[in-house]
Amino acid sequence: MSEAPASPNERRTFLGIILAAIGAFAAGAFGWSLFRFLSPVDRGGEDNQVRVTRDLVAIGGAHFFAFQGRPAVVLQPRAGEFVALSAVCTHLGCIVKWIDESQEFLCPCHAGRFAPSGQVLGGPPPRALDTYPVILDGDDILIG
Ligand code: FES
Repeated sequence: MSEAPASPNERRTFLGIILAAIGAFAAGAFGWSLFRFLSPVDRGGEDNQVRVTRDLVAIGGAHFFAFQGRPAVVLQPRAGEFVALSAVCTHLGCIVKWIDESQEFLCPCHAGRFAPSGQVLGGPPPRALDTYPVILDGDDILIG
C-alpha cells in the first residue's frame, strides 16, 4: 500500500510551518541577545572584590591582576601601605607598565607617566589613573 504524493497545498502548509518555526527561533535569539545587552551589569557587592595575597606585592613593587575584566595593579609604596589602581591609561587606554627603578608607571603608547598614587607626572594623559578601595584582611588585600 503506497501513500499518495503530497498535494501542492500540503507542501505549502508544511513549508509555512517550517518557515514560521525558523522565524520564531530567530526572533527569540534576537530578543534574548537584546535583553542581555540592555540588562544592567551588577558591579556592586563582595563578589566583585578581588583578593590578592600580600606576599605577591613586594615593597616598592607592583602586582598586576584583572579587576572586573580590566587590567589593574596593586602597589606597596611603603611597608604595609597598599594602593590599587586601574592599569588602563587615561589618555587612549593603553596598559601602563610599572618601572621599578623610577618608581612610576610609564605608558608605552605615548610616554604618559603616573606616580604610584596614580597622579599624572607627565605626557598626554588628561587625568589620574582610577583608584580602587583597598581593605587589608589578614594576609590578604581585598580590592574593590
Ligand atoms: S595611551 Fe597612554 S599616553 Fe597615550
